[in-house]
Amino acid sequence: MSSAKVTNDIYSVGILNPNMRVFDIVMTTDYGTSYNSYLVKGNEKVALIEACHKTYFKQYLENIKEVIDPAKIDYVVLNHNEPDHTGSLAELMDYLPNATILISQAGSIYLKNITNRKDLKVQVVKNGETIDLGGKTMEFITAPFLHWPDSMFTWVKEDGTLFSCDFLGAHYCEPYTFDYNIAYPEKYESALKGYFDAIFAPFKSYVRAGLEKIKDLPIERVCSSHGPILTKGVRLEFVIEEYKLWSAAPQKEKMTIPVFYTSAYGNTRKIAKAIQKGILQAQPDAVVETYDIIKHDMGALAQLLNECDGFALGSPTINGEAVPPLWMLLAHVDVINNKKKPVLVFGSYGWSGEAVPNLIARVTGLKMAPFGEGYKVCFVPTEEDLEKAVELGRSFGETVTLR
Ligand code: FEO
Repeated sequence: MSSAKVTNDIYSVGILNPNMRVFDIVMTTDYGTSYNSYLVKGNEKVALIEACHKTYFKQYLENIKEVIDPAKIDYVVLNHNEPDHTGSLAELMDYLPNATILISQAGSIYLKNITNRKDLKVQVVKNGETIDLGGKTMEFITAPFLHWPDSMFTWVKEDGTLFSCDFLGAHYCEPYTFDYNIAYPEKYESALKGYFDAIFAPFKSYVRAGLEKIKDLPIERVCSSHGPILTKGVRLEFVIEEYKLWSAAPQKEKMTIPVFYTSAYGNTRKIAKAIQKGILQAQPDAVVETYDIIKHDMGALAQLLNECDGFALGSPTINGEAVPPLWMLLAHVDVINNKKKPVLVFGSYGWSGEAVPNLIARVTGLKMAPFGEGYKVCFVPTEEDLEKAVELGRSFGETVTLR
């Protein structure tokens, strides 16, 4: 993509990557993405908002040059520091000898290790601070955890334009810059939801705070870091309403305490059922279901884990370790919102039983609250073993409260 005019004084100079199918190793992207970057021209000074992925630096620089001599850029605004936007920065700054980087306090710390350069001119900006470009004002609005600690928005009131970082964006690539040109709306909406789920779902309270911060701004357009520019009367209102819906605080009446497990020979399953029975004795009104992990969709299980009030986790020991599906499930834990969540770990083993202590170590690392030393049974549980599992489930269930 070459440059495109957004308003008389704002230009899009970012890059399209229609072929990307995986982002950050774990996120599938069926419709590619764009790394959006914008030039804002005042009467006196010029700002570049966001940079670009390192891979596309050459074309990115050409896009900038279509609009302005890079040496005339006065500021580079980094709304956050993830390398899909800052990967090219160290190289870019060689072409911008007169530019000062504007960044949040947290971002200034990350910047050093992302660029490995000590010669950059950096100015930390605070929430509400403004910089005048000459008839064009940039106001910085801190937006922590949307989705990085250093995230912020940049608001240019004269153009009614909000540069929203990743917020309200989507990994979606069509070549025509604006939302009114989207040719495949259903695919865009699917990408928008997938992006929210992967990037912002762990930060719903911060999403609500971010929406609150921008609700009174007279926004004409949102220029996010990925996907089409959202314009008033086209898709801007729709996307904001979707974010409100998706980030709403859950209204829960009942506790949910799932029992996740998998079982090679049915022994860990027997313990799972006994623990379920014990939890229900302690919490008869709670929703307590057992889930053999390999028989369910991992995404659905992960959502259940992240939204529940406590859970039990059972694995046999195979090859001196818990089995891979358990690790896969724990890889989906939302660390921010699961702090101190009660977890009871259990499992049957044959030789040495490492699964239970290893899983306890992992959930401890995830800042959860494992219940005691867990429960492990050698080979086939006896009736007495199962009675102990019921007792343990009951004791564990008594510790769980509505979150
Ligand atoms: Fe698009 Fe958080 O980087």
